[in-house]
Amino acid sequence: MILAANFKTNHTRKSTLEYLETLDGFSNTCSEDSFYIFPPATALESSSAHITIGAQNAYPIESGSCTGEIGVAQLNEFSIKTVLIGHSERRHVLGESLDLIKKKYDFFKEQGFTIFFCIGEPLEVKEQGVDAVMAYIADQIEGIDLSYENLIVAYEPVWAIGTGKSATNEDIAQIHSKIKKICDKPLLYGGSVKEANFKDIVAIDGVDGVLVGTASWDVADYISMIKSAK
Ligand code: 13P
Repeated sequence: MILAANFKTNHTRKSTLEYLETLDGFSNTCSEDSFYIFPPATALESSSAHITIGAQNAYPIESGSCTGEIGVAQLNEFSIKTVLIGHSERRHVLGESLDLIKKKYDFFKEQGFTIFFCIGEPLEVKEQGVDAVMAYIADQIEGIDLSYENLIVAYEPVWAIGTGKSATNEDIAQIHSKIKKICDKPLLYGGSVKEANFKDIVAIDGVDGVLVGTASWDVADYISMIKSAK
């Protein structure tokens, strides 16, 4: 199972190091799981044997004049080869266009990065039914090379992110099976995953893991959630 934690704009460098130390001890005991942590850019670290560190965002550039962004040169300092692309907060809050997302995808693919590519529909699309959801997702993946060997897809419905209201198991099973038909890469679910629903969600056919925000930020809670499914 793939267990990915997105810290978003939480944690400092110090608290990330403490977190990683605690999680490292636990992850040792979970040989069949892959752990990924996406800390904020100020807390990037090198990966350990059991935990891969990824960047929440990076600009498709080696280095140069791009104020406020980081590129490959900054990621190389920590040997980071994993990046999140297309997260809904970058699409909908920060206004990243499909074009920029595709540019990032192609660039980091060229660099051999493991790409966590996030897709998912807003509420008004969900309310129009499954066909509308799949049409929305088709737009998000247009021009994206789904055969890329280091691709991990995360289905994160926008309305479920940070709301405490996860998609139902039926919704997840249905959308995941449809995505699996067009892309056979590992497929994660994200959106209000928490201890109360974790065990059921990871048991759904077509769910290869989770991308967790809020419920990952406290390491003890995160570990307890993972243990709940063991
Ligand atoms: P929450 O788990 O807080 O809903 O966030 C999910 C997410 O955006 C992970 O990338």
